[in-house]
Amino acid sequence: MDCIRFGETSIVEESNSDRPKVLIIFFSFSRQTRKLVQAVAEGMESQGVDVVRQRLVPVETLNFPFKSISTTFLMMLLTLLRKRIPIRPLDKKSFHRYDMIILAGPTWSYNPSGPVLSFLDDYGERILKNQLVLPIISCRSYWRTHWYYLKGRIRKCHGIPLTPWAFTHNVPEPWKTVGVFLTIAGKNPKRIPILKKFYTRYGHSNRQLALLKDKATALARELWAGRR
Ligand SMILES: Cc1cc2nc3c(=O)[nH]c(=O)nc-3n(C[C@H](O)[C@H](O)[C@H](O)COP(=O)(O)O)c2cc1C
Repeated sequence: MDCIRFGETSIVEESNSDRPKVLIIFFSFSRQTRKLVQAVAEGMESQGVDVVRQRLVPVETLNFPFKSISTTFLMMLLTLLRKRIPIRPLDKKSFHRYDMIILAGPTWSYNPSGPVLSFLDDYGERILKNQLVLPIISCRSYWRTHWYYLKGRIRKCHGIPLTPWAFTHNVPEPWKTVGVFLTIAGKNPKRIPILKKFYTRYGHSNRQLALLKDKATALARELWAGRR
């Protein structure tokens, strides 16, 4: 990856407390990114880092799951075209300076999700400029196209993209693709006998969350080291 790794660059401004401060900006439709964010926050807070969370809230409520298979197909098509989903104004806390910003969200049709795209359009430069930005991606399987686009957008905002932490769902294909689609469309995959056998769960495993917590703990130590 040609993006800058944490440790090679340090852009840290003085904050009121001695503790490193991290802002996590995130959107989560089916609670998977939210779980990742929780694990990261726990890992960092265990090392005394101040973690501030900013959830991206769509102006129009977006309920999980979608209402039908046709709504899901339509949403996938629109998100392939990078349709924006307008978001509510961010809290004041998002405009403070941080040691690092984490931008977390799901992959939608090979792209960042609509609320994250709106965040980049509306606030990207103001919040990400001159900041280390660690993307966290939750997806079924494919996150690289999402990442290449996101990296470009972060750079256009004059932010410094770090190597992303990407997490895929932990079930073999082809069961995963079918199971995720049905779950998002509000159908229960377990009602289909073959999926009941092979599609064990939607989303990330507890093992992935534990690994992520460990990674976040190690990163928090690096942030402290950068302070010395
Ligand atoms: C509209 C839509 C499109 C999606 N497109 C992709 C995709 O292109 N690649 C992929 O790996 N996962 C895709 N997914 C699956 C999500 O990325 C995955 O379920 C993720 O864990 C959801 O995170 P969240 O619960 O935080 O929203 C898509 C999900 C939705 C709702």
